[in-house]
Amino acid sequence: MSQKPNAIIFGGLNTCSRALAGFLVPLEGEALVSNLRIVDKYSVVPPTTYLGSEFPQILGKPNVEYQQANLTVPAIVSSTFDPPPEQEPYSIVQIKHTCNIARLIGEEAARRNVKAYVRLQQPWYESSDKGSHSEQEDVKPYGVIGTWWHESLRILGAIEELNLVIVRIGLIYGPYIDFGLMSNVLTVAAVYGYMKKPMKSLWGPGHNAMNTIHSDDVAGGLWSAAEWMSRVGRSEAIGVAGEVIHWRNDKSKVAEVAGMPPPDKTIVVPLFNLTDDNGTTLDKAGKTMTRIFGATFEYHNFVTSAMIRFRLEDVVEDINESHVGAWAEMLTKSDPPVTKTPLSAYMDTFSLSKHTVAFSNNKIQRILGYQLKRPNMTSDVLYEIVDKWKTEGSWPSIKS
Ligand SMILES: *[C@@H]1O[C@H](CO)[C@@H](O)[C@H](O)[C@H]1NC(C)=O
Repeated sequence: MSQKPNAIIFGGLNTCSRALAGFLVPLEGEALVSNLRIVDKYSVVPPTTYLGSEFPQILGKPNVEYQQANLTVPAIVSSTFDPPPEQEPYSIVQIKHTCNIARLIGEEAARRNVKAYVRLQQPWYESSDKGSHSEQEDVKPYGVIGTWWHESLRILGAIEELNLVIVRIGLIYGPYIDFGLMSNVLTVAAVYGYMKKPMKSLWGPGHNAMNTIHSDDVAGGLWSAAEWMSRVGRSEAIGVAGEVIHWRNDKSKVAEVAGMPPPDKTIVVPLFNLTDDNGTTLDKAGKTMTRIFGATFEYHNFVTSAMIRFRLEDVVEDINESHVGAWAEMLTKSDPPVTKTPLSAYMDTFSLSKHTVAFSNNKIQRILGYQLKRPNMTSDVLYEIVDKWKTEGSWPSIKS
């Protein structure tokens, strides 16, 4: 008899975990796992983070369980691995968190011989405009957050016996995904449509890759990686898909951070990029998103954009004043009015800065045979997302 595995999702309730849970235990149709446990710091009843209208229904299923837990406490981490009464142990783990929690969960997973520990890596990297964009490129972590997310991969890679596989995604977008740059740009595009003005980029059209991934494929790709790892095991996985995770930190930190391997230790882990086939660039995303709201995507002239970029910190507030005001007006004018939404038209300096995310998806297709469900970020795919937000009352419905 082939028993379905039990799976745990650690963290990411505010980003990708709800999509993954909905994929593993769909509202309609057969579940891929026997039991699913989701562990995070948030409360779900009452919610202390945006959950979307679908996820609470998934939590209502008999084989799905949510635990609110403080994962900085090792004894609590250990207890989250204890299976429900008279059930098989958890064999698949997905985790999203920085170093300390990643290490505690990784060590526990290794002790319990979990068959697959899949780590989702957000694209906190700056890719080069040139090159193959394969997993072999030594991409530069983005700022402090990128440095420590990157470091957590080395820490996990150093845990012997851990059946680790890393899935490094592009910029996520999808239904009920309020997190990240893409949902922010989509909201702002709607604002320009409402104001009947062109949306203008601070950056030249150039190359500016901003590779994307739909949340359905984040879920599908993580699952595909978990199945593969359960089948092949650690040494074969490293043999077939191992990549060096380069040192990208400050040497003085080694003494301060538990489990941090020194710079000269070579860390090799199975790593896959997960992006769609859309070849999303700033220009392409801007044009597709503005078009669906009847606006256009344009560029400031060279002098204006150079001036704005030079004073970015100062102009952030000016840029936002009009966005935020118009979005608030849209929410009020909506029929019925929107009283609560996780979406914001505020763009911080991160959103307004230039980002290059260029990851080839060749390897995950070749080795895992993964087939994208949402290969392109089309207008239809975006409409579907907006419609779901409208249905739950998070997005304004305005008769023009
Ligand atoms: C989690 O546990 C740590 C260690 O005991 C503690 O310092 C921290 O305040 C706790 N966090 C929460 C949110 O309770």
